[in-house]
Amino acid sequence: MSSTSQSSGLTSPNGTGSPHHDGRAAAHGQARASESSRIPALSHRMKHDKSILALAVSSKDIFAGTQGGEILVYSLETYERRKVIEAHKGSVLGLCLPKEESILLSSATDPIVNVWDTNTFLRLYSIWSTYDVGDIFCVAYSSYHKTIYLGAQNTSIQWYDLKEKDKRPRPPLASHPSERKNKFFDSAGPGGVLTPRTIGVERRHAVGGQNLEIDKQDIHQFAHYGYVYCMLLGKGILPGKPGEEVLVSGGGDGRILLWRIEARGGAISNICTLEDGREEGEAILSLAQEGSFLYSGRPDGEINVWDLETRQLVRSLKAKTGDVLALSLGGGYLFAGGITGNVQKFNEHYEKVSAFKAHDGVILASAFTTFNDKATFVTGGNDSAIGIWDVQDCITEPAIKSKRSNNDLMVESLTEFVSFRTVSSLPRYRADCRRGASFLRSVFQNFGAATEMLNTAEPYNPIVFAKFRGNPATAGRRKKILFYGHYDVIAAENEQAKWKYDPFTLTGEGGYLYGRGISDNKGPIIAAIYAAHELANEQALDSDIIFLIEGEEESGSRGFVQAIKSKKDLIGDVDWILLANSYWLDDHVPCLTYGLRGVIHATVQIESRHPDLHSGVDGSALLDEPVKDLVMLLSKLTGRHGKVEIPGFYDPILPLTDDERLLYDEITENLLRGNPDLGDAEALAQSLMRRWREASLTIHRFQTSGPENSTIIPRLARASISMRLVPNQESAVIAKTLQSYLHSEFDQLDSKNRLKVTIDHQAEPWLGDYNNEIFQTLEEAIMSVWGPTLGRRRSSVHIPKHDQFHLTPAQLPSRPTPATSNTLANSSTEPDDVLSDSPNVPRKPLYIREGGSIPSIRFLEKEFGAPAAHLPCGQASDSAHLDNERLRLVNLYNSKMIFKKVFRELPQK
Ligand code: BES
Ligand code: MN
Repeated sequence: MSSTSQSSGLTSPNGTGSPHHDGRAAAHGQARASESSRIPALSHRMKHDKSILALAVSSKDIFAGTQGGEILVYSLETYERRKVIEAHKGSVLGLCLPKEESILLSSATDPIVNVWDTNTFLRLYSIWSTYDVGDIFCVAYSSYHKTIYLGAQNTSIQWYDLKEKDKRPRPPLASHPSERKNKFFDSAGPGGVLTPRTIGVERRHAVGGQNLEIDKQDIHQFAHYGYVYCMLLGKGILPGKPGEEVLVSGGGDGRILLWRIEARGGAISNICTLEDGREEGEAILSLAQEGSFLYSGRPDGEINVWDLETRQLVRSLKAKTGDVLALSLGGGYLFAGGITGNVQKFNEHYEKVSAFKAHDGVILASAFTTFNDKATFVTGGNDSAIGIWDVQDCITEPAIKSKRSNNDLMVESLTEFVSFRTVSSLPRYRADCRRGASFLRSVFQNFGAATEMLNTAEPYNPIVFAKFRGNPATAGRRKKILFYGHYDVIAAENEQAKWKYDPFTLTGEGGYLYGRGISDNKGPIIAAIYAAHELANEQALDSDIIFLIEGEEESGSRGFVQAIKSKKDLIGDVDWILLANSYWLDDHVPCLTYGLRGVIHATVQIESRHPDLHSGVDGSALLDEPVKDLVMLLSKLTGRHGKVEIPGFYDPILPLTDDERLLYDEITENLLRGNPDLGDAEALAQSLMRRWREASLTIHRFQTSGPENSTIIPRLARASISMRLVPNQESAVIAKTLQSYLHSEFDQLDSKNRLKVTIDHQAEPWLGDYNNEIFQTLEEAIMSVWGPTLGRRRSSVHIPKHDQFHLTPAQLPSRPTPATSNTLANSSTEPDDVLSDSPNVPRKPLYIREGGSIPSIRFLEKEFGAPAAHLPCGQASDSAHLDNERLRLVNLYNSKMIFKKVFRELPQK
């Protein structure tokens, strides 16, 4: 078995061309091309509902200023939105994050500059000018002088020395820009009529902090002969004075001005103008500085390179970006973005090395950072999106050529894993399943695990076996944990184009990874593998971790039992079984699963001795029609409200114990706290019990022979049915009873047709012991990894939608009954801005059961005499088996940490 490179992604994994799109293909496909010309890979995308006009990036967060006056805060680690700051009444045009990162400055059309605490997101200061300055396009901050600079539409540059803030008189409220009369709206028109203004749709205005008004002295009128579009504050700009901070401004007049900052009061005085000799320069739209070079972006893709030592224009570059609205420097490259939505990348010799489409619209802002040693480029546009670009592949500077974190590697492995169409139910994907299995094996091999492919009976997919051996010193008493998972996935042909992205191209958006199989079950498998690998690397693996990853689970685990029985020697003893193939009850509270239902899939077929016939020619009461027989027969299976009529079907089912009843109380209390709209606690508990601890029968579909028109009497009719079974119902017994019941009922019909009942597959239910040591260890790990931020409440300031305002409760759209998994998934609240009233202590996970089935679990328990436990990694809204299946990044990262803890701590129990 040859091993594929699992982390570099440089080889096309399925041999049929690249599995990726979105530039990733190009990025990885050109392994041998010059590194610098590679196109960055889009590692994540965040979508908002308004244009992104400004960006700033700290060592842990992205700040994005929007057209709606908000500042959005996203975590660079998980891409979760941490906060929406209602920052301004008008569009946020400028953001400035001083190096120390403790404060953030924002400027807007309101026209105000706000200063924010980057830890609490509270406003510290709100600053305005004494008179109307128009839009404030840009803001800069001198940490040395503690002075804020703003550049405005009225061509002025103004400043505020924060050292003075407490000595100055408090501004009267009437001086606040929102209290001033608007020249246009607030002046009387013909006949003294005032322009009507919209009421009630205004944004909430940021509150808090100290109000500060700029002193009339601290204004430089007509700094430019045009709007002051951009500013930066840098060092190393003045030859011979590398330590001195200098303000640089760019204006609509096409000039770049350098300003000296006076020691007292932060006042500015002009040092010089950078001239390019043009009579009427075109506007300076963006600025960037590195060392003694300054870069300016102008209309029509023009970028100027200025030597600050000689103050000369040294180069004029042309980018295919349209007006250059965003310039960023990093990793030895210059990134220019503009109105075409393209980013053009230049190297240090000012050669164009690549260009890529970053937005479906105008790029309005960009930023560069290195996060966790990873070079990252961020763009924002009027398509309301933020793009996060992994530019480390194209970085040639050794200092920046960074190590990927294990979490990054985990996502890379998953990108490749998901690209294999390991659909077990469709024979045309057999080869893809094999390739997927050998890729998975190579991941284990690269991490030093012993691996083997366990064949199942032809033509079924093989099982990947792997063993991470624990510390040799503990050989004799080493505990053994068996991790079970499946690499096969449900088909995703995307015929109705309902997927947002190609289902086999893993795509990051809004803190989630989208792709078929990402949650069921590829993501959790990769998390468990990385957990074992990390422990082995840290020499902290004291137990053996055995992996059995099969490729037929979605098809009823065909061939699994036989293959495992024949390889028992290889697998050896097992102390505990762990799996991770289910979901939380909602999107917030971590759960542990202690039960799964069993399942029997059967096909009921009725066949006539005649061929397909014409209903006009042959239809008569003399002819027993297969479809009619089938309908009559199936009607015997269930009575009213789905009650199964098979004799003795419900008899073995165990009654609810008091102990278990308490778990349901805990669950409903939690769910209702998160979402009171879910209704009555008892009704909710009942709906869960019906799905988890009661059996059910489903008729899935019908199939008939002959052409599809309404004159045919089909000679054959078939129905697919299934039954979900609960503990104590033996699947083999129920399967036999089903068959004999159908045959005896069919006999009663006295039909001339033939009945055939086939059992396609069956799975035993599983009920774990939620008081045992694996569950205990899992519970402790969940509490320490997920911490206290659980069970967020829906905001108590719930604002009803406008059109619901005048409706009586009876008129409000009612929720469908009963509550389904979908009700719970859709009742999820926004992740941020939701007040938590839970105490600041780690919360216990909810103990739940599941209505779904995993055929191998009860078998593995019996075969190895070891108890199983089930950690759900995904959220209720993950859409397993549906379009747009996804997994939240935090869930992936945290699941890895939970596995790590369990692999380390369970053997000590
Ligand atoms: N992960 C699911 C099982 C599951 C489903 C757990 C829903 C929790 C909630 C598994 O991959 C699956 O789809 N199982 C099938 C098994 C069947 C094909 C034998 C199922 O439940 O239908
Ligand atoms: Mn599944």
